[in-house]
Amino acid sequence: MAVPPRPDLLQRLAAQTAERGQAHLLRRLRTIEQAQGPWLQIGGRRLLSFCSNDYLGLAQHPQLVGALTRAAASGGVGSTSAHLICGHRAEHARLEEALAAWTGRERALLFSTGYMANLGALQALLATADLCLQDKLNHACLIDGARLSGAELKRYPHADAGAAARQLDARPGAAALLATDGVFSMDGDVAPLRELAALCADRHATLMVDDAHGLGVLGAHGAGSVTAAGLGQHEVPVLMATLGKALGCAGAFVAGPAALIEGLLQFARPYIYTTAMPPALAAAALAAVQLAQAEDWRRDRLAALVARLRRGAEQLGLPLMASTSAIQPLLLGDADAAMQAMRALEAHGLLVGAIRRPTVPAGQARLRITLSAAHEESHVDRLLDALQTLPLPQRGR
Ligand SMILES: Cc1ncc(COP(=O)(O)O)c(C=O)c1O
Repeated sequence: MAVPPRPDLLQRLAAQTAERGQAHLLRRLRTIEQAQGPWLQIGGRRLLSFCSNDYLGLAQHPQLVGALTRAAASGGVGSTSAHLICGHRAEHARLEEALAAWTGRERALLFSTGYMANLGALQALLATADLCLQDKLNHACLIDGARLSGAELKRYPHADAGAAARQLDARPGAAALLATDGVFSMDGDVAPLRELAALCADRHATLMVDDAHGLGVLGAHGAGSVTAAGLGQHEVPVLMATLGKALGCAGAFVAGPAALIEGLLQFARPYIYTTAMPPALAAAALAAVQLAQAEDWRRDRLAALVARLRRGAEQLGLPLMASTSAIQPLLLGDADAAMQAMRALEAHGLLVGAIRRPTVPAGQARLRITLSAAHEESHVDRLLDALQTLPLPQRGR
């Protein structure tokens, strides 16, 4: 019998890339030559950015830079090992204590990225016979974490606690985890956390919240969307958040009861089998946590800028999506329209991300506008002036 030729993997990948190109959906890498607050230099041009996640304007704060350089000067750059071998330094331990205290949890455990934190938490908690419920708009790494665990993954319609209840009831005997973004990364809205917590309590499911975009921005002293919803460790035993967004650094953590953290330390492979984050980065993140907690004015300023943008957009007939967070998307629908809008804004010296499928569903392409406490009112006005000149289909509807 003739054996069919073995497919060439690189050729297949190249064909998939070419298909993306034909659909005008190729992703493009751009090199930032210089960053100064919200200003970025690309190709020798200075652009005002509305696409970073530096919501509190901390990424270039002198106290972070000072903490990082001091720690690197005394302890070097690399951690030289995984946490469980000899990579766990005093800087990591101090940061974990500060994060646990800030979020009102017994303990916290650092991961190198948010992606790995979600993979690790879901893989350690779930087994193949279990059920994992997720909001349809959850971040990709929550979905991938469920896949890695082998548990049955069910995705309920966005923010629909009733649908989640029906999915839970379909498998009454299974151990279940319900995982949701706190603030949705491409939409900016907040999950119905109280409803989900009540559902999980009623059906004996475990609730996990990924607060990558809520920590630092929402809740008293920036403790996040879970605190803002009046919920604590009892209702949300698994809390994950990142250090690379409002805290202006990189890395992430999972916080919760001591037994959760001890279990992750034993079983979360993306924690165990990787080099610990540089200790100097942990020192910088600790400085960021202290600033984010203490400086409420950053949140006040961000909220004022969000209100200014929303007011202005309404006057222009631009339908921003319903969001109170720093993420203020403008839904355009068509991928080409989103790309054209992005290019037109760039011609005005503004950098705004166009988000298309597969990151968001087909037909829901958008400009993902993000604001930061590093912006000034005049920056928002400049964005509004530029948006006004775009031939956007929704205008005036
Ligand atoms: C909701 C959410 N979770 C997790 C992540 C991943 O975090 P990290 O960038 O630290 O890997 C992101 C974005 O990057 C995110 O938006």
